[in-house]
Amino acid sequence: MNEEKVLKYFIEAKDIGRIENPTSVGIGGDPGCSDYIKLYLKIENDIIKDAKAEVYGCHIAIAATSAFIQLIKNKHYRDAINIKPDDVLNELGGLPEEKIHCTNLGPMALENAIQDYILEMLCQQAENEND
Ligand code: FES
Repeated sequence: MNEEKVLKYFIEAKDIGRIENPTSVGIGGDPGCSDYIKLYLKIENDIIKDAKAEVYGCHIAIAATSAFIQLIKNKHYRDAINIKPDDVLNELGGLPEEKIHCTNLGPMALENAIQDYILEMLCQQAENEND
């Protein structure tokens, strides 16, 4: 584990919080430890322009979520969805075995938020076709 990097993401935690009027929201959680995050996205023209998350969990969950958000910002949502827990783990320079699952929260929440986004787009299209 790169303690300096983990601490930086934990202390700075720039993207922790919520976005007003998000395009979509997703939740990712771990039933084993009850930690979860709520991820807020602002997507414009399929690009994740802004992202923040509320984290209800340990300090590593906060650091991992901060790192994850840095990795997905300004990416097309189809590219962002390919960012996996291992990418977060690499960004943090590894983690102790018992904390590796903290890296799952961001990708899980993103998957849910993107499903929300796609469903919203499909509903809009259907509405426009019926007008
Ligand atoms: Fe479970 Fe961090 S998310 S211990």
